[in-house]
Amino acid sequence: MPLPVSMIPPAPGENEPCDATFESAKVLSLLARRRSTKIIHFTAPGPSDGELDALIRLAARVPDHGKLGPWRFVVIEGEGRARAGEKLAGVCTDAQSAEIARHTFQRAPVCVMVVSTAAAHAKIPEWEQQLSAGAVCYALLIAGHAMGYGGCWLTGWPAYDARARAALGLAEGERIAGFIHLGTPTETPTERVRADWAQRVARF
Ligand SMILES: Cc1cc2nc3c(=O)[nH]c(=O)nc-3n(C[C@H](O)[C@H](O)[C@H](O)COP(=O)(O)O)c2cc1C
Repeated sequence: MPLPVSMIPPAPGENEPCDATFESAKVLSLLARRRSTKIIHFTAPGPSDGELDALIRLAARVPDHGKLGPWRFVVIEGEGRARAGEKLAGVCTDAQSAEIARHTFQRAPVCVMVVSTAAAHAKIPEWEQQLSAGAVCYALLIAGHAMGYGGCWLTGWPAYDARARAALGLAEGERIAGFIHLGTPTETPTERVRADWAQRVARF
């Protein structure tokens, strides 16, 4: 059962003192053991509209140099999934790819497209704006898990195809940071091989 949205505290008001530390065995265990749900292993239900609003509100609290909010969210759920799939099918050049594209958003009950709106800025490099969009994707995934849903962060060809991006409503220069699929897992994932973090640590 998903945790109720009412358990999530409201956002603090401006200049209100906030917790800078948060001892939580549950958060540590989530980070230690989290796994994505395979896209073929989703079923309904996914987050409701109210739950999605809550998840997006949490994800939008990521570090954001310059307070630019260099990202936006497009929720693809319900009948919108078929409409978005049809848009992708429309840019395919053969019938077989179009048929696959048509089902892109049918595989999970909900997909949140995280769009990076990073643009040239006098002080904040575009790279940092894009990193913030990546952080949004991970925060959304983690928040979704903590609420009780499976999630998976995909990109795929539509993220790298200008016609697909335009068909999904992106403006010139906007990028897809990720499609965050959310729903109920039909299977418990098993652990995968992980990058050896210890080999990737140096100390000055
Ligand atoms: C930016 C980004 C894009 C990704 N796109 C895909 C994708 O298109 N297809 C895919 O199979 N996995 C993709 N992945 C990987 C999955 O999200 C996932 O991390 C992977 O399946 C491993 O599972 P785990 O999250 O449990 O470690 C992507 C990951 C990132 C960070």
